[in-house]
Amino acid sequence: MHVDLLAGRVYNPATMPTPVPTILVFDSGLGGLTVFAEVLKARPDARYVYAADDAGFPYGRWGEEELAARVVHVMERLIAVHRPDLVVVACNTASTLVLPHLRARFSIPFVGTVPAIKPAAQASRSGRVTVLGTPGTVARDYTRDLIETYAAGCDVTLVGSRLLAGFAEAELSGTPVSDAEILAELSPCFVDDGNGRTDVVALACTHYPLLLPRFKALAPWPVTWIDPAPAIARRVVQLIGTPVPGHEAGDDEAVVVFTEGRDLNPSLRAALRDKGLPIAVVEPLPLTRA
Ligand code: DGL
Repeated sequence: MHVDLLAGRVYNPATMPTPVPTILVFDSGLGGLTVFAEVLKARPDARYVYAADDAGFPYGRWGEEELAARVVHVMERLIAVHRPDLVVVACNTASTLVLPHLRARFSIPFVGTVPAIKPAAQASRSGRVTVLGTPGTVARDYTRDLIETYAAGCDVTLVGSRLLAGFAEAELSGTPVSDAEILAELSPCFVDDGNGRTDVVALACTHYPLLLPRFKALAPWPVTWIDPAPAIARRVVQLIGTPVPGHEAGDDEAVVVFTEGRDLNPSLRAALRDKGLPIAVVEPLPLTRA
């Protein structure tokens, strides 16, 4: 018998198929796959549900009140159906706003994804740091508070891209956009004020690491790119522990949920397979915009 202290649940092998936790990884779209990949490496034995609220994509353009209501509503459905032991909100736009609402509403642990401003400030030598997020994330009080607390000595440039998350979705779905289109969104990240130039860019949207090879190729000069995904995986392990001995990766099928219930094109299916979701079960959860 294995007692899960966090969820207060007792797993009895006689009644439970496996004593491994179920982890729900949630985003507005495919960006959370960059976090999922790291969590999967840390807990390859776990059972996974990856949920993309693509009916609401992109979250970056939603107003705060309507987005908070939307995420809580979708989460109610996902938690009721999939009964996760832990939820990773693999979305900065949602995490910087709705974590308090989710923690108040549900008793299971939530691990959020928020702009990696502290590590960015620590990594910078020039003191010029850029936070590249969605328009929603860079406008949040939460983000401004992180800057005040952890990067007070730095010159922080906030860039809220309206288009990059969609470009990342296109990239993964096999229809990449042009270099010029990416560069137009990326250029404001690179600041040279005559005394020094940007040397660190914090990727504050989980979609953006999907474009990292293209960012590196297009950057006007080399910078350190900060992706918070490994730190999130470490936090998951802190909360639910290391892999359960005797349980192999892939014992259970990972479930992929798209709220729009769309058919996946073959390129996307292949990409999901490459990202550790070899058997994707699309489970429509159609919800219209709140
Ligand atoms: N992946 C999400 C994030 O980390 C946002 C993309 C969107 O605008 O929906 O912020």
